[in-house]
Parts: sequence; C-alpha cells; structure tokens
Amino acid sequence: MSITIDNKIGKPYVGFTTSHRSYRLTPLYHDDAEAIYSILKNESITKNLSNVPYPYTLEHAKEWLKIKSKVTAHALSTDWKDKQKAKEQLLHDISFTAVRDSEMNFVGDVNIRRNQWEWMELEDPEQRCVLTKKNETKEAGDPTICYGIGFYPSPDHQGKGIMTSALKTAIDLSRTYMHAEIFQGICRSDNIGSRKVFEKNGFVFDRNGVMPWKGAAMERS
Ligand SMILES: CC(C)(COP(=O)(O)OP(=O)(O)OC[C@H]1O[C@@H](n2cnc3c(N)ncnc32)[C@H](O)[C@@H]1OP(=O)(O)O)[C@@H](O)C(=O)NCCC(=O)NCCS
Repeated sequence: MSITIDNKIGKPYVGFTTSHRSYRLTPLYHDDAEAIYSILKNESITKNLSNVPYPYTLEHAKEWLKIKSKVTAHALSTDWKDKQKAKEQLLHDISFTAVRDSEMNFVGDVNIRRNQWEWMELEDPEQRCVLTKKNETKEAGDPTICYGIGFYPSPDHQGKGIMTSALKTAIDLSRTYMHAEIFQGICRSDNIGSRKVFEKNGFVFDRNGVMPWKGAAMERS
C-alpha cells in the first residue's frame, strides 16, 4: 500500500486495495462543497450519520471544508514520495477520506478518527469522559488508540460494493501509516446496509449497535 501522485493533476491518492481498483481515496479538495452537498442533502443518508445536520445546506458543506482546510492544505502540499514525510503527515492527519471515481469525481466519504464511542456501554458518563480524553491524548501512532468509523456513498454509488472496498482501503491505510489496530463502528439496528459493510470488513455486531473490529484477531487465528 502506498500513496501515488496522479500525474495528470499532480494530486495524491491511494488506489482501492481490493475490488473497484479504478476508485481511490484522496484528501478533500477545496472545491468539493457542491458534491458533498448533493449527497448529504438526502435525508435517507443523513439520518444515519451522527453529527451531520439536517436539513443539510451548501453552507454546511462549505463550513466543513473550512474546518478541514488546514488538513487539506497540508495533504496537498506534502511530498508523498518521501516515505518518512508521508508517515509523519498521516500519523497526525487522517486526510485521505474522500472517495473518488477514476474521473476524480467525489462519490462519498470514509472517515476514521479517534473514537468517543468505545465506552458507550459504560453507564457512568464521567468514566466515559475520562476514557475518551485518555484516547484523545495518546501519542500519534500508539497502537492502543481506538478509532471510530463513519462513511457514506452518493445515492448512485450505493449497492455496488464501493463502500465495502473503501472501508477496507481506509483500514489498510490507517494500519500501514498510523499503526492503528483498534477500530469501532456504530450503526442503527435497522441500518442493514451499513452493518453489512462493517461485517464484510471483519467487524462484529455487538449490543447497542456497537461494532468492534475483529480483523487482527481473525488474521492471527
Ligand atoms: C448503508 C450504506 C453505507 C451501504 O453502502 P453501499 O456502498 O451501498 O454498500 P455495499 O454496496 O458495499 O454493500 C454491502 C452489502 O450491504 C448490502 N446493502 C447495501 N445497502 C443495503 C440496504 N439499504 N439494505 C440492505 N442491504 C444493503 C449490499 O447488498 C451488500 O450485501 P451483499 O454483499 O451481501 O450483496 C449506504 O447505503 C448509505 O449511504 N447509507 C446511508 C449512510 C450510512 O448509513 N452510513 C453509515 C453510518 S454507520
């Protein structure tokens, strides 16, 4: 697994590692707002995503890109051919979240970030808060960090196996560059599609819709 530069546009990408090899993960681009808005304005998608407002407006998408602008600028200016720099960059910023087709159209997103859900089953909110803070303050690259996962494809890319492959690629990337080994998904019990995407990547449905990753354990057995 490595980061490649698209010679036509001079921007970095990671090709999907299993099927759908013409698809890729890239950083967000500054002009992705319209594409993000055209997906997240659909209630059928947004209702399954925590922390995404509904109704979703173009302003929300622009605001999101503004929040991510520093990470985006870093990702687009890093010398990815320098493996050491690439590693340092990705250890700190999980910047390859945009899913694009071979024409570089934005067709979805898969986001891996430090998790706050791991301890959902703990009833004591104070204890949850302490553990979340501990997770947030761990040194980048610490393999005991727990990462949470969220994803969405555009409506015309659903049901084609693209999210399953996108999640696999994002996990491979995080394991390679961030030494990430603990992942957790969460999905509503009626969100069969999302649950399947997780399960096909080695996650196991637990109570309360929490889905810990059993990938490493499965590989070892
Ligand atoms: C759920 C969702 C992410 C699935 O993405 P996708 O790209 O369509 O998933 P895939 O094509 O990789 O399909 C994986 C499996 O799920 C099944 N699936 C996908 N959507 C489904 C649905 N709505 N109902 C039942 N099964 C579904 C597929 O048939 C496939 O199963 P199979 O391999 O046994 O045939 C997508 O439908 C979506 O956008 N949902 C709204 C946002 C969301 O829920 N995000 C996740 C939050 S946790």
